[in-house]
Order: sequence, then C-alpha cells, then structure tokens
Amino acid sequence: MKHKRRSSPLNALAMIMAVGSIMTFVTPDADAQQEGRRRRGTQEVRPIELTPEQVAQLTRIANERSLNVDDLLAAAKTFMPSGRHDEYVLFSSGGHSGQVHAIGVPSMRLLRTIAVFTTEPWQGYGYSGDDDRVIESLKINGKPVTWGDTHHPALSETKGDYDGDFLFIGDKANARVAVIDLRDWETKQIVKNPLTISDHGAAFVTPNTEYIIEGGQYATVLGYGYAPPEEYKESYRGMVTLWKFDRAKGRIDESKSFALELPPYWQDLADAGKLASDGWIFINSFNTEMATGGVERGNAPFEAGASKRDMDYLHIINWKKAEAAFVAGKAQSINGFPVLSLSTLIDDEIMYFAPEPKSPHGVDVTPNGQFIVVAGKLDPHVTVYSIDKITNAIAQKKFSGSDEYGVPVLDFDAVKEAQVELGLGPLHTQFDDKGYAYTSLFLDSAVARWTLGGEYAKLNAEQPWKLVQKTPVQYNIGHLSAAEGDTVSPDGKYLISMSKWSVDRFLPTGPLLPQNFQLLDIAQPGNTMPVIYDSPIGVGEPHYCQMIKADKLKTWTVYPEVGWDPHTQRLAPNAPKKGQEGVVRNGNNVLVTMTAVRSHFFPEHVEVVEGDTVTWRITALETAMDATHGFCIGGYNINLSLEPGEFAEIKFVADRPGTYPFYCTEFCSALHLEMMGYLHVKPKSQNSAAIE
Ligand code: CUA
Repeated sequence: MKHKRRSSPLNALAMIMAVGSIMTFVTPDADAQQEGRRRRGTQEVRPIELTPEQVAQLTRIANERSLNVDDLLAAAKTFMPSGRHDEYVLFSSGGHSGQVHAIGVPSMRLLRTIAVFTTEPWQGYGYSGDDDRVIESLKINGKPVTWGDTHHPALSETKGDYDGDFLFIGDKANARVAVIDLRDWETKQIVKNPLTISDHGAAFVTPNTEYIIEGGQYATVLGYGYAPPEEYKESYRGMVTLWKFDRAKGRIDESKSFALELPPYWQDLADAGKLASDGWIFINSFNTEMATGGVERGNAPFEAGASKRDMDYLHIINWKKAEAAFVAGKAQSINGFPVLSLSTLIDDEIMYFAPEPKSPHGVDVTPNGQFIVVAGKLDPHVTVYSIDKITNAIAQKKFSGSDEYGVPVLDFDAVKEAQVELGLGPLHTQFDDKGYAYTSLFLDSAVARWTLGGEYAKLNAEQPWKLVQKTPVQYNIGHLSAAEGDTVSPDGKYLISMSKWSVDRFLPTGPLLPQNFQLLDIAQPGNTMPVIYDSPIGVGEPHYCQMIKADKLKTWTVYPEVGWDPHTQRLAPNAPKKGQEGVVRNGNNVLVTMTAVRSHFFPEHVEVVEGDTVTWRITALETAMDATHGFCIGGYNINLSLEPGEFAEIKFVADRPGTYPFYCTEFCSALHLEMMGYLHVKPKSQNSAAIE
C-alpha cells in the first residue's frame, strides 16, 4: 500500500500543480492578469435570454433546493461572478473585536478586517517587538489596552459627501478615536480622550471633516476625577469633544482640539448638520432624570430611574460659535485638555436644548440638512425637527424654560415639524433618493419606510410624514445603513439591517451565535422592500456601518515606492536597499539590514549574542500586486506583514539564546517554505570575547 501511495496519480497531480503555481506566482506580470479581468468584464454586459432548457434546469434546481421565485430573484441580485467586483464597500464596526470589517455589497462577502484597537498578527499590527508603535498608541495611563468596543465608523466627507479618503471610528469602552487611511486601509493614529473613560457618540464628522465629533455617554468626573454618586449633580459631567482633523497630514491635531462641558445627562448619538443646518451639531441624551441607580441599596435600578420623564433633551450646538470661543481663549484646562464650560456655552449662545421623547437613541439629519429625526426608543413615533424652526425659535427666544444648569430649552411645538408613528422601539434612521426615510424598530424587529415632507414630498406618490411599509428582519435590529445613506446625496439602492440576534437563521455555533447583517433591496418605491441576503457576522458585536460607492475609494494596490513607511506615508530614509544588506554590530547594538523578495530573505543567517539589542529593518522589494510576504520570529512574539514595497522595523533584546528559524508567513510562492533563515543567539558565556 505504501509503495502504491508514493506513486499515486495524486502525487503526479501535486507535481503539476506545483509547477503551475511556480508559473503563476513567479510571473510578476500582474498587469496581464488585470487585463484579462477587464476583458472578461466587457464580455459580461451582453444581455442574456434563457432557453426553455435553461428555464427547465433552473426550475429543477430551485425545486430540489426548495427555493421559491423570490429566492431566485434575491440570488440574481446578490451573486457576484468570479472576478467581478462589488458596487459598494460596507465599513462596519467590529464591536468588541476592536476592528473594522470591510464587506462587499451586494455580495456581502468579507473583504478584509482592519486592525484598529486590537493587535492583529496577520497585519503585523502590534507584533514588532519592543517599542512597538501600535502598542504605544494603545496605552492608557501607561498600560496597553489591547481591545476596543468599536461603535460608529465615519467616512471622511467633502461638502457632505463621502470622499473615500479616511475612515474614523470610536472605541466606546475606552473613549478613543482612530484614524484609518483608506489608501492602504491601515490605522494611522489613535487618540485617547483625556476627559472621560468611555464614550458613545463617536465618530461623526462635520461636512468637510473639519472636526471629528466624539460625544460622551455615561457621565463621570471629567479628567478621570473621583466623586461619590451622592455628588452626581455637582461633580459629574457629560462632554462632547471636537477633534480637529488635519487632512494634509492625515492626522487629528490634538493641539487644535477642544471639548464642551455638558450636564451629566447621558449624551448618546450625534450627527452633524449639513447644507441647511451646516454649523450645527445635534446630540441626543437620556437619563435627564440624573438617576444614580443603586438597586443593591433598594433604589430604582438605572433602567427604571432613567426612564421616568416623558421628555429628554436634544442638544443643539453651534460648533462654529464653539470654535470661535475656543480660539478666543475661553476654554479652561481639565487634565491638560481645553474645555468650554457650561456657563460659556450659555453666555455665548452656543448650546440650546429642545425637548425630545422619550429616552431617544438615534438622531439623524436629512440629506438636505432641513430636518433632524429623533427616534425615542420608548416612544412609537419618530419626532422630526426643522432647522428653520429651530433657528427662528432661537432668534425669537421661544423658550419653555431652562434646565437645572441654566441651558435654555426651546419650546417643543415651536421647533417640531412632525411626529410619525412607526412602531415599537424606533432607534436609527437612514435616507434614500426617493424622499423616504428608513427607521430601525428594535422591538418590532422591522425596518420601517416612511415619507419625508418639505421638498421631499414631490419625490414619491405617498402623503408626507406617513408610514409606508415595514419589512420584518431577523431579529432585533440595532443600526441600519443605506448606500451613502447619511450623505447629502444617498443612492437609494441597498440597506443593511444590523440584526442583533440571529437565533435560528444559521447553523448553531454553540451558545454564542453570530449577528445577522441582512441586505434589503430598497430600489423600488412604495411597499416593495425585500430582504435579499442574510450574512452571519461571527466576529465581535458589530454596531454601526457606512456604505460607500466602491469607485470613490483610491486604494493603493502596492505602496507607491519600494521602501515605503506606511506610518509616515512616505519613503523611509532608513529603508534597506538591494545591495546594502548586512549585519552591523556597534557595541551591544546590532543592526540588521534585510530585503525580502520571492523567495528569500537577504541575509539568511543573522548571528547575535545573548543580551544584544537588535534593530532589524526589512524592505519588501516586491512591486507586483498581492506579492505580500510575512516575517516572523517564533518565541519572540514578532510577526510582520510586508506588503509590496513596504518597509518595517522591529526592535528586541535577544535575551534568550538559541537557534530561531525565521520564516515568511504568507504563502507567497511555490518556494514559500524555503523563504526562511536562522537567527542565532549565542549564549553569552561562550562569546565573552566576541563582544569586545
Ligand atoms: Cu514570502 Cu512566503
């Protein structure tokens, strides 16, 4: 049997495949492959006509698989032929995975995850030894916090439209905001809010990405202070932070960022005004009761104490006036960070409140900026405010009073445009190009389509401010996201229901089940809005997502020059060049200068002595698309991703003697297994002379 197996046809096949893969992998002619794909693309546009035989074949398959006509239509709307690209990219929060998922729409195929707040070995994120840049960026109070609860991704905008340049995302657990460059889809910066431990309303951008908004949530003593719950009203505060974005540098400029002190209500989601409401920020709040809980002491639990009032406060903030007050030096420093006090917000007429029912969650501005939609999770309506009415009410001082901290409260009837009854548990709203709004109904497990009024009324056949239709989703929808659905020009094509519970929708995966991203086709007006795909998301607890037209992205497929430093986004002066490789000792410091190209590292043997401090620089000399190498040293917690042209540097103390194979961790070529070498760490005792 053994002899037979050795000479089996399978082995011959493996040989042929190996030779074939050498041909494929070693040929660096990615352009030719691209050309092939393009040619296929033009062939595909020919209209088809099904023959009676094909109809019979389709019918037979459908019946064998128990598919109905709606299933076949849904499949036709979502299936992507091999090599064809999706029309949209969905950037989804990865929840407590601390990452971002990029998913193609309509296929719902996972394209990539982007490591943000959690170290990730495949991307070499946080695995470059001592002084790792990522680990440094994840430190809070001196210690790395290597996970995040990513909540709201925000694509950068120009004139209120996604421009495809940057993506921002907030970490609710630790009050951090990250900047991702969408040229190479890598996290470039993480800022930690110096005022608060956790947040929620992050990230949202102003229409030209002047600021990235980070709204708080659970009130605390700003600046990591301490006060007992008995001093809640005096000492606890909410906040919203405006992080200044420097587009040319691709970084948040912390020196030009500031925050606003808010009452200790629990601020929730935020949205920036646009067009008609440009210059304003809207933030929801709940627990205006200022309940402090304590169920263990016989008090009402938070859930009851924070739900007593019929109205909470929509925060209406003029960020241009806030910016002027900050520039004029009116901010006070808390934990080294400039904060505009509540009294400044009142005196400078920066902030107003409007009553909003009841324990609201989502606040969403219509594409024209005219209306602000608030969904009260304990109220079956959405409440719509008009920016014209708000600015008139402010000008005419139509106040119904002020809150406990002196913030003027606008008269509800003076600012309200409409209330639309939708169903149970309304949370978030998105928009399309047909004058419809879409609101998630958590308790109803449904997406509600309803009509907007004003200039939107002429875009569809129905009466304004009316519920049109509800599509059931499976189950318990949180956020939802339409194609370009929170820009000034939504596309009205696809909508994602981020269903929190999947229950019976997929094969069970133990007691921990995936969430369910459901794709709805919203292209047809009226009461047609079917679910056309279910996609299990088995990572983290995804929270919110944004969907951008794929052709807006200007993604690099290789780095612009060989020796590129992705952190600085320019050529690294220290990047090893071909012909310069070597190992140089200077006292106890060893500098390794290495290149990587299919299918070898140069050099292949690196000798150091126990206790040496090793700086190891590698340039991937590759210029072909997808010719990525990896580099790992087992036992030293080191793994790099070396994408075409990328320069990387690792540092470590070689404190454990031994013979360490290092190898390429990407299947880069047929001779990938041979792409390796040895790190020899000689024991000190045997080499005392060598150090001299
Ligand atoms: Cu390079 Cu595997």
